Amino acid sequence: MTQLHAYRAAILHSLGDPSQVGLEDSYAYYEDGLLVVDQGIISDIGPAEAVLARLAPHTAITEFSNKLITAGFVDTHIHFPQTEMIASYGEQLLDWLNNYTFPEEGKFSDPQHAQRVASFFLEELLRNGTTTAMVFGTVHKASVEAFFTESHKRNMRMIAGKVMMDRNGPDYLLDTPESSYSDSKALIERWHKKGRQLYAVTPRFAPTSTEAQLSMAGRLLQEYDDVYLQTHLSENKQEIEWVKSLFPERAGYLDVYDHFNLLGHRSVFAHAVHLEEAECQRMADTDSVISFCPTSNLFLGSGLLDLPRVEGHGIRVGLGTDVGGAPAFLYYVPLLRLIKSSNFKNINFILLKLCIWLL
Ligand code: GUN
Ligand code: ZN
Repeated sequence: MTQLHAYRAAILHSLGDPSQVGLEDSYAYYEDGLLVVDQGIISDIGPAEAVLARLAPHTAITEFSNKLITAGFVDTHIHFPQTEMIASYGEQLLDWLNNYTFPEEGKFSDPQHAQRVASFFLEELLRNGTTTAMVFGTVHKASVEAFFTESHKRNMRMIAGKVMMDRNGPDYLLDTPESSYSDSKALIERWHKKGRQLYAVTPRFAPTSTEAQLSMAGRLLQEYDDVYLQTHLSENKQEIEWVKSLFPERAGYLDVYDHFNLLGHRSVFAHAVHLEEAECQRMADTDSVISFCPTSNLFLGSGLLDLPRVEGHGIRVGLGTDVGGAPAFLYYVPLLRLIKSSNFKNINFILLKLCIWLL
């Protein structure tokens, strides 16, 4: 392979977050564009006419007419073990977990099953244009081992973690505060920053962890200051009431996580549909991130995040699919329908929202 290769197509690329820099300055679009790659790294980009004028002679050019080149999509919240139960329909969150999700996740005690599903899942992400994702495994350490092995093989950028859950689930899915700590620690030592892999400490959500386990999650974040945290927050009204009854001494759902020092600029909270004003403020003050999962929220009847409200508080927001809570790996399928009926500026705005991951 020669060092330089150029690709000619329509090109859309991001320059900044539209909610920060304004729509006009947030993207560049070249109807006839040229992207130059030098040994796997982009070395030039712009309107074809201008880039061709400065391109090294004899550079090979591949033409993709009527195609759009854009940055890989980033899915900020997804469960790889739920791939084969995608679109299990008819229940809200808590029944859906008990009836479909937990039995499916139980299958991941088998490392071969985990390897097969991880491989299929990663191919499915690529097929849908997603090159980076923040991913839940199951409670089984081997599920994350299999996942990182497959991701590392493909040189994909994945942030993933072993689920910590030591109560309110079936016995076959429960760990203990101690085992969740030692399994997570071993995975961090083995995989965090290996190639393009990164680790996220992953308590499933407040109801499935004891206080002892949440404090172990906080301890891991303290011991490894550059790992991520991922969990669920305020997705469903019944769930919120349950958290309040399990942690009566805390001011609310977010305060449970706050109490165990789980908030911060590498902490990603899936859903956060029903936040109180004070919770929005606390998310902003700690620079914590919301993963907005519209297709899942609509599918499970959870409600829908008020995006302008949380962005108004200065909270960073990324998009996630939450598969299998969502019916598809493509979060932009329903949005593409919207795009069809909107003007071109809105097309770019929506695509850029999908592309940007603000860490
Ligand atoms: N809350 C706790 N676990 C889950 C899960 O697997 N999916 C969703 N959507 N919400 C959750
Ligand atoms: Zn989820």
